[in-house]
Amino acid sequence: IMKKKFKKMLLVECDLGGPEAGAALGPNALYSLLGENAELVDVIRCAEISDCHNTTPQAHNLKEINDCLYQISQSVSEFFKKNQNESLGIIAGDHSTACGSLAGLKTANPDARIGVIWIDAHADIHSPYTTPSGNVHGMPIAAAVGADHKKIAINSIDQETHAEWEKTKRLSQSSFTLNDLVYIGIRDLEQQEQEVLEQHNIPHYSVSSVSRLGGTEVATAALKYLEHCSSIYVSFDIDSLDAELVPGTGTPVTDGLDAFNTMKIISTLAASDKVKLLEVVEINPLLDQGNKTTELVARILEGVF
Ligand code: ARG
Ligand code: MN
Ligand code: MN
Ligand code: MN
Repeated sequence: IMKKKFKKMLLVECDLGGPEAGAALGPNALYSLLGENAELVDVIRCAEISDCHNTTPQAHNLKEINDCLYQISQSVSEFFKKNQNESLGIIAGDHSTACGSLAGLKTANPDARIGVIWIDAHADIHSPYTTPSGNVHGMPIAAAVGADHKKIAINSIDQETHAEWEKTKRLSQSSFTLNDLVYIGIRDLEQQEQEVLEQHNIPHYSVSSVSRLGGTEVATAALKYLEHCSSIYVSFDIDSLDAELVPGTGTPVTDGLDAFNTMKIISTLAASDKVKLLEVVEINPLLDQGNKTTELVARILEGVF
């Protein structure tokens, strides 16, 4: 039997960062399909939307998301302090939690140079100053690198939102920089995001380049780009897959990745010793057709989870 790389798992039940409830149920839905091989390290349950009061149009539920980010960071750093050479799989809800996971990795190893591979339909690099929706799942990269984008702002922010966002950035620890980021599959970006990507020359592999080159080749190139990094975090937002394949997600986008190449990408990345943390996000069982989405994601991750 092949030993799975991400045997130890952390579940983060959160849907405060997306457009609607339900993604908090994703972790359990996927975990229950993984079989007895998986080993649970911790379960973090975030507040429910109905308990969130300090919400503003530019950063819905940010106060409660910050509480959640703190817990994630603690849990992840504790894991890596105790298990220096091991890897951790995270199944989270909406994508807002990713900056907490990165903060945990950074806290456990402050000298690490962390590279990030972001597999997604979206760039998730907004801040409260540029977000079109106020949904924090569109902001984890800006939080993680400590970016505000004030020069290209389209929103004005009240004092309370400002204070919470400052806290988000502080919790996020500036765990990596935009020099060490690669995107795969992004295709639904706002103009402000486009500008940031161009300004920082952030590489991305489009869906068509994945079909042309193949998943193995693209993943190998992404690892090569991050060669100078000492550890790598992979964020797998399932809406990177084509909308037809994943009805059970909050922000589906057409013309996405196919299942075969996605599996190749994930397994090639997982085979690298530098890849310490793989986080899977944005399964929403309440939006799914039967269990179609969760089952497909489970199959894609079969070799590694
Ligand atoms: N760019 C859009 C927004 O900021 C969509 C973000 C979707 N992010 C995600 N993790 N699914 O609202
Ligand atoms: Mn909203
Ligand atoms: Mn997405
Ligand atoms: Mn995302």
